Amino acid sequence: MLSHLLHLRGIESVVLEKHPRAYIERRVRAGVLEQGTVDLLEQAGLGERLRREGMIHHGIQLRFDGSTHRIAFEESTPGRGITVYGQQEVIKDLIQARLRAGGALHFSVEQVNVGDLGGPLATISFVHEGAERELKCDFIAGCDGSHGVSRQAIPNDAINVFERTYPYAWLGILARAAPLHEELVYAYHDRGFALFSMRSPELTRLYLQVEPGECLESWSDERIWSELRVRLASNDDFRLNEGPIIERSITGMRSSVVEPMQYGRLYLAGDSAHIVPPTGAKGMNLAIADVRVLADAMAAYYALGDHAALARYSQTCLERVWRAEHFSWWMTSMLHRAPGDDAFQQRLQRSQLQYVVRSRAASASLAENYVGLPSDWAGKAPERLNSHF
Ligand code: DHB
Repeated sequence: MLSHLLHLRGIESVVLEKHPRAYIERRVRAGVLEQGTVDLLEQAGLGERLRREGMIHHGIQLRFDGSTHRIAFEESTPGRGITVYGQQEVIKDLIQARLRAGGALHFSVEQVNVGDLGGPLATISFVHEGAERELKCDFIAGCDGSHGVSRQAIPNDAINVFERTYPYAWLGILARAAPLHEELVYAYHDRGFALFSMRSPELTRLYLQVEPGECLESWSDERIWSELRVRLASNDDFRLNEGPIIERSITGMRSSVVEPMQYGRLYLAGDSAHIVPPTGAKGMNLAIADVRVLADAMAAYYALGDHAALARYSQTCLERVWRAEHFSWWMTSMLHRAPGDDAFQQRLQRSQLQYVVRSRAASASLAENYVGLPSDWAGKAPERLNSHF
């Protein structure tokens, strides 16, 4: 995405990808695009298939004690919704756009090392198709995740890392079954959290809270479906359509933020700088928001020699990052059952859920965070708050 945005501004870049193209185009990952993400993809000329195949949603459903409650986005965030469109579809569109424009994309790259981050030019060495290569560049964007070489290249004493782990994980499946329900359902249940989602009119995406460290072998198809049936059960006409499971995985849950998101000529973006637990679907959206800021800052630098936006990169991104960190932690804490939770904790969760679905202010707050903050969020004055005084 960054490479594409830079290209649109006449800035050259080289993308180094560790995996083969087919792997990243097939890997099932996130699937909920915020309004700002959709708007950016459209503005960047990447909206054609997204418009055709993306599924626009104007609300989500919260289910607890068998009752379903809708959080309507249109009431509190008019004109803003979410679009269900798989991350691997975004990846396919981006790869195609970069290759069509003659962009330099190298797949299956090995032994990547970054250096000279504090010098006049940074260096990246790597092995591609058996040959050792080195690039010299003005900037390196570290978009290679929390275990990638970029994050590791920063000395520990140059950053602060803020972290939280959770005592549960998600088992996710993709099933060849038509989703019979139009909106996502987040279910709070005595046996743990469950989520109903989708990828297309033929594919249902479902998640179950499981214990961390649990292995897929202990989850037969029948066990998965029966657990989903119980946790997603409702008093209304919701029906879970079942079908062959075509993909399954278990994901750990953690929150983490690296501050600052920059070291010399290296700028961290996406998971290399921050991780959110999946509840609320913020991960991919945050990564795209980061590179939007970075592309604008680099454009200002090359066009005007103005370094100010680059200097503010980390601060600008972190405002949105911490809002999403809080929202993801909050959604996670409200909807999951932790092993040691007592009756007091459960009463608190129920009260929070009831408040969110009954109070206009509370449901508006969830909706506002869910559809995503506007692109000019960072540095915005608290106008609405002031108007009450
Ligand atoms: C999906 C994932 C999420 O984490 C979420 O909150 C909603 C939907 C999904 O993969 O469809």
